[in-house]
Amino acid sequence: MKVRKAVIPAAGLATRFLPVTKAQAKEMLPIVDKPTIQFIVEEARASGIEDILIVEGKQKRSIEDHFDSAPELEIKLKEEHKDELLALVQSITKIGVNMFFVRQPYPNGLGAAVSLAKSFIANEPFIVMLGDDLMSDHIPLTKQLIDAYEETHASTIAVMQVPHSEVSKYGVIDPIKETRKDLYSVKRFVEKPSIDKAPSDLAIIGRYLLTPEIFDYLDKTKPGKNGEIQLTDAIDSLNQTQRVFAHVFRGERHDVGNKLGFLETNIEYGLKHPEIKNGLKKYILALSKKLK
Ligand code: G1P
Repeated sequence: MKVRKAVIPAAGLATRFLPVTKAQAKEMLPIVDKPTIQFIVEEARASGIEDILIVEGKQKRSIEDHFDSAPELEIKLKEEHKDELLALVQSITKIGVNMFFVRQPYPNGLGAAVSLAKSFIANEPFIVMLGDDLMSDHIPLTKQLIDAYEETHASTIAVMQVPHSEVSKYGVIDPIKETRKDLYSVKRFVEKPSIDKAPSDLAIIGRYLLTPEIFDYLDKTKPGKNGEIQLTDAIDSLNQTQRVFAHVFRGERHDVGNKLGFLETNIEYGLKHPEIKNGLKKYILALSKKLK
């Protein structure tokens, strides 16, 4: 069955970014001039996704507004003959996927957020995309998972080698063997293990392709790490009856879910942005001399 639907959980409280996220959606924080969630939606579209459900929390109206039309702004830009900006603003409304929204009343975990997508997904395989991870590769990671699914017809989770000292920030897999290059069978999925108990250094990064049977397990999943319903725990249970694979991502990943990663990503994307790249490079070179 074709993978057509994606779920983007965006209901977290984003305490790592306080105070800026007190009254503002983390997903709307910009990488140079584009909100992080737009990168995620663009990746979905480039991978052939047709329908996206965004699971929102409080204060997330701006996400809906961003993908809606903006009549007053558009009229003004038209009057002022700012055709390029007008086209840019309108291109977001015509982004090429259908957007749906649902609210998560309590921030009780990633698993709880995904379970709200049950009736939207119905009986199809689907993608979960986490907004904290921006991936660059010539084939979008979501498309890589869909390509793997066409061979395995099973749930497939994106993982990446991370430094051992960082494993407790992630869901980690206990890999069995490489079924084919970059694709592992998995013995266990463990959410945020301690460094000494981590079964490997292969961490779950923010893209999952799941079969709809995951909802049966999410319904039964008890609160886990941090007292939250963990998607990793439900995936581990699913893997007991229906094989779940892990696909190793080897491209470049930017974690925009913490302050340092967010700033680094802004600098790297800024150095490629046609409007500011020269000025930014000059500034960084001058700054680095001062810092020496
Ligand atoms: C979530 C998942 C974790 C995964 C991570 C990837 O954790 O629970 O398994 O490795 O995303 O970014 P969070 O970063 O939301 O705490």
